[in-house]
Amino acid sequence: LLNKPVIAIDGPTASGKGTVAALVADKLGYHYLDSGAIYRVLAVAVAQQALDPDTPANLATIIPMAASLPVQFQGEQVLLNGLDVSDAIRTEQAGVMASRLAVVPEIRAGLLQRQRDFHQSPGLVADGRDMGSVVFPDAVLKVFLTASAQVRAERRVRQIENRGQQADFQAIFNDLMARDKRDSERAVAPLKPCDDALVLDCSSMPIDQVVATILNWARERI
Ligand code: CDP
Ligand code: CDP
Repeated sequence: LLNKPVIAIDGPTASGKGTVAALVADKLGYHYLDSGAIYRVLAVAVAQQALDPDTPANLATIIPMAASLPVQFQGEQVLLNGLDVSDAIRTEQAGVMASRLAVVPEIRAGLLQRQRDFHQSPGLVADGRDMGSVVFPDAVLKVFLTASAQVRAERRVRQIENRGQQADFQAIFNDLMARDKRDSERAVAPLKPCDDALVLDCSSMPIDQVVATILNWARERI
């Protein structure tokens, strides 16, 4: 495994995983897996067919969709059935649907191989909820990146406002708490630091300092 090391970065929503993981991958010249994007693409596919995952009949349709999801990653673009869904997967509805689908063990199992396909030379930085615990248990470095709920909600608000959209802090804070709860309390791959993860609270750390800390840890191990 040392000839193509994996760095796993897990943590709650809006902790900065995606931003930091992409920058670390860039610095090391590694591949980057945004595992949440795969859950979100499935969410968009499910929404397109107006399937409510709360009914067993619909779940029976959704589970095979997970294993054969026609998703492609082309640089910054995410394609579903060849169509660009890069913006559609970033909506709040897609995030909420993704977290509802993510509680179903058969759906998680169906998406496993697609995530492992990203493990290629010279190495991989993967971000999500269960990169270190389930998808890449042999990762050379496992980071659990977190920040207070208040700070994460503030960061999400700023992110939305920077896109020129309006953001309601209280609504975002409530959604974030609900997503944390669902992600933490599910039976399969619950959100929590694994035993061999280094926990990094970046509530008052700028992005470049978080990236530098992870790069130092990575250099000690690779
Ligand atoms: O991927 P995840 O949901 O964990 O978070 P993200 O989308 O990468 O980060 C959420 C926002 O927080 C982004 O706008 C980052 O630029 C910002 N951020 C920050 O201001 N300071 C940090 N130390 C980490 C992230
Ligand atoms: O950006 P944010 O952290 O809000 O979400 P994301 O990483 O894009 O993931 C969306 C949802 O997919 C999460 O709320 C999780 O429920 C689920 N997910 C998961 O269960 N396991 C992963 N490895 C990645 C995402």
